[in-house]
Amino acid sequence: MILGIYCAGNLGKVFYDLAVRINAVQRRWEKIVFIDDVYEGASFYDGAEVHRLSAWKEPKENVEIVIANGTPRGRKAIYDRVTGAGYRLATLVSPTAIVSPSARLGAGVVVLDYAAVLADAVVEDNVLISVYTAVGHDVCIGAHSDIQTNTILGGNVRIGEGTFLGLSVTVKEELSIGRDTIIGMGAVVSREIGDGVTAVGDPARAVRRNEDGIIFRTHS
Ligand SMILES: CC(C)(COP(=O)(O)OP(=O)(O)OC[C@H]1O[C@@H](n2cnc3c(N)ncnc32)[C@H](O)[C@@H]1OP(=O)(O)O)[C@@H](O)C(=O)NCCC(=O)NCCS
Repeated sequence: MILGIYCAGNLGKVFYDLAVRINAVQRRWEKIVFIDDVYEGASFYDGAEVHRLSAWKEPKENVEIVIANGTPRGRKAIYDRVTGAGYRLATLVSPTAIVSPSARLGAGVVVLDYAAVLADAVVEDNVLISVYTAVGHDVCIGAHSDIQTNTILGGNVRIGEGTFLGLSVTVKEELSIGRDTIIGMGAVVSREIGDGVTAVGDPARAVRRNEDGIIFRTHS
């Protein structure tokens, strides 16, 4: 089996390191490569091969793919392309993460180092749970969402599809956050937040509509 990390970028490097460590324990893949539609070189991090999905000759049954894009809209677009082309998604759980036996992880979910996913949590397809994040009991996280480092979700929290929670967000138990929403880093969510907004602060409040879905801007 070959692991294809979709996007030769910073998050791709993080996933590559994780995959190497998983392989040291489980011998799961014979090769780890990157897939990228725009990267120009033939190799990327650690000399790993880079392929265009459209030009890659590897039989699909030998491949599983994980999506290393940090924005929910980007994650969903790649997910639709990859699954539409008939590829399977890989679910990666760090050897240092703790996932309850009663939690359910969808296809393509990545749980990074020292994260915890507690009893009866449901994490839908293609969600990223970053380093040191705590997903409380019975939490539901919608597909394609990105839950960033050191974020804490209290028990029974509901996160809609395609939502981004920035670094060190805290969400009070039982609350819901809508779909296609961005919660800025450091926010403390103590009231419900709806669909399609950007919210920041303590207490977190919506400050605008999430029109463009952009999270990472380049400031010159
Ligand atoms: C919320 C966020 C998406 C807004 O980004 P943006 O649209 O580029 O906004 P800007 O940086 O231009 O800031 C606009 C205003 O909001 C404020 N602001 C931005 N993020 C904020 C936050 N998390 N909490 C409080 N205020 C914030 C800025 O200070 C600025 O205020 P001003 O107009 O009074 O100067 C971004 O700041 C953020 O939190 N991103 C997540 C970071 C993260 O988790 N990265 C993962 C690491 S890989």
